[in-house]
This record gives sequence, structure tokens and C-alpha cells, in this order.
Amino acid sequence: MEKNYVMNTYSRFDVVFDHGEGCYLFDINGKKYIDFASGIAVNSLGYGCKKIEDTISSQSKKLLHCSNLYWSEPQLELAQKLCENSSFDKAFFCNSGAEANEAALKLAKIYAKKNKGADCTKFIAFKNSFHGRTTGSLSLTGQDKYQKNFTPLMPEVEFANFNDINSVKKLLSPEVCAIFLEPVQGEGGIVPAKKEFLQELRDICTKNNIALIFDEVQCGMGRCGKLFAHQVYDVNPDIVTLAKAIGGGVPMGAMLSNKKFADAFEAGDHASTFGGNLLACACANVVVDEILNAKLLENVDKMHNYFVQKLSELKEKYSFIKEIRGLGLMLGIELDISPKEVVNLAFKEGLLILSAGSNVIRFVPPLIIDEKAAEEGFRVLDKVFNEIKGE
Ligand SMILES: Cc1ncc(COP(=O)(O)O)c(C=O)c1O
Repeated sequence: MEKNYVMNTYSRFDVVFDHGEGCYLFDINGKKYIDFASGIAVNSLGYGCKKIEDTISSQSKKLLHCSNLYWSEPQLELAQKLCENSSFDKAFFCNSGAEANEAALKLAKIYAKKNKGADCTKFIAFKNSFHGRTTGSLSLTGQDKYQKNFTPLMPEVEFANFNDINSVKKLLSPEVCAIFLEPVQGEGGIVPAKKEFLQELRDICTKNNIALIFDEVQCGMGRCGKLFAHQVYDVNPDIVTLAKAIGGGVPMGAMLSNKKFADAFEAGDHASTFGGNLLACACANVVVDEILNAKLLENVDKMHNYFVQKLSELKEKYSFIKEIRGLGLMLGIELDISPKEVVNLAFKEGLLILSAGSNVIRFVPPLIIDEKAAEEGFRVLDKVFNEIKGE
């Protein structure tokens, strides 16, 4: 059916999922899978979360959507909650990560146009980054494989080396309006920024009146152990973008900004029909409340240690594991064998994991995961590595 009716943009696994419970997914034949992937870092509260189910049910009985021509309580409550628990002052809501990044780049551009001059339109982004598939966000994505068939893209983007401040300094000029990066590169291979690197970027941006923009679409919303990944580093960007986990499975994105940049937007400068609708915001309020309730983040800390211990045991046993890295429950292992084969064999054995970059296995389990489910997953991984070692 897919060949007949669905465009060929994904290479999919041979499975049709039917339902989920906690950290497990079940396919239409009843086969159970342990989930270390969370629908690509989305399903942080796991499957069958009663609070999300009840919220969807009650909000759907009241009102799903009313457009941004009118106010709604769930949107205001969410904006307030996100701002009061961060260094940001204002929120804009949209539907995805790419859209949140489009909003951020437009905000940086309009601020620069109004305050620094019409020529201040350049962005510094980073090699191996991933910011999305729309034309603007793709322009910021420093990977040729995603860009090459869609050029020309935005011409004003230059790429520095991640964690290399001198490569950033070389690209600085009065035309730079923003520096755009993921505090932990996700799709590029789970590469956390160094604290001094982020601090130096903060200093450069403050001194030169450049917007420092963090894409926390994947690493934000509790995944790294705090509500925002930059709070782990204690470095505040001017603008942050969010999506994936924020809606608890309902499509949702957000851009938050400090007042200085946020006030550059006036009514009519940016918009989204569905952005911040009542259903998405009601669900996001549940997600944010769960993260702010210390228990979930305590679990992230505890399970981070458990994952690192289990991964270290595997590293001792299998010499093709080169490095373990990441923060919270956003972890990766670098391999010198093909991650694709590992992902495929694990899938057959009922474990969902992801690859990242060319040689990394990525672990982004639901943040509610416990030792029992994790242990089951690691047993499968050990079996798969053993099989590969014996080949
Ligand atoms: C860091 C980062 N930014 C942006 C995106 C794009 O998000 P979306 O697919 O919701 O547009 C992703 C998606 O993987 C991502 O990981």
C-alpha cells in the first residue's frame, strides 16, 4: 500500500505498531518491543500516560482549536510556565522543530534589521548539526547529505566546527546576526557541547549584539536532566527552540526569547494557524508539569547512571565500542562497526534503538523508563553484539 499511496520519503522498518504501554510498544501481531527510541525523542512520558489521555479527552470535549485571533487559557498558562522556569520572557508556539527554528531565524533577522542595519543577515551554524527539513532550517543544517539536492538554500549561512571557538571567531563580522546551535548535537552523533565553548559563545554574542540561539528540539524538555539542556550548562541563550517531547505525542513546537529580541516582532510579522492550539498546549502543560515535578528528573539522573554503567560493561566486553557520551537520557555509543546492522538486529529481537551520524547508536528512551525495562533492553543489546562479534 505504501508504494501506491505514500510518498517515498522514509525507509521504514517492516512493522505496523498498534499500541503501547509504559516503555513497550506492541505491533498488530502482538509482538512486544522495548522502546529506547521514544518515537525519536518524543514520547518522554511513555505510552498510555493517564494524565495525557485524560487531558486529550477533557480538552477535546471543550475546544480543540480557535486560531490565534483569540486568546486561550492553555496557551497563556503554558507560556507563563515556560518563561517563569527559565531566563526567557516571551513564547511563540508552532507545530514542529523545523518551524520553531524558522521562527527563531526570522526573529534574529528582524531584530538585526531594526537594530543593526539591513546588511546584518548572516548566520553562523555548525558542521554536523541538524535543524530540520524546511528551507530555512535546512540551510542551517551542516550536513551535505541533507542539503545537496535542494541548493541553492539561504546564502547567508557559514559553518564552524562544533566545540572549536577559534573556528567561530574566524567567521565573525558585523554582518552576523545570530549563532545557531544544538547544545547537544543529536542527529549528528550525540555530541555534547563543552561548557567553556558555550560560555565563550555567550560572551561573543553579548559583546557583539548577536543572537545566541539554542536548538533544544531534541535535547530539551527534561531529556538532559533539567527542563532545558542549557540549564545543565548554566549558559542562557537569547532564544531557544523546542518541539518533539513538548506535546506529549501531540505535534507542537515553541520558540522562547528574552525580551530584548522578542520585542522585535510586531503583530503580523510571524504566525501559524495551528500553532499553540488548545489541545497541543493542554498536553504540553501536562508534560511541563511532569518535568517540573522533581520525580521525573530524579529518574532521568538515576537511569542515566544505570545506562552509563550498562554501556560501560558492554564497552569492556566488545572492543568495537569506542566511546560512550551524552547527557541525561540522551546517550550515544560510538562504534567502529556499522550502527545500521546493530539497529536492524536489535529490531528483530524486539528492541527499538536509533543510529546517529555515521557511527553512533543513539539511546533516547522514555524518561519514565525503569531498571526492569532497561535491563531487558540491555540483554537484547548484549545478544546482538555477541552475534556480530561471532560473525
Ligand atoms: C535538533 C533538532 N532540530 C530540529 C529538528 C526538526 O524537528 P521536526 O522534525 O519536528 O521539524 C530535529 C528533528 O530531529 C532535531 O533533532
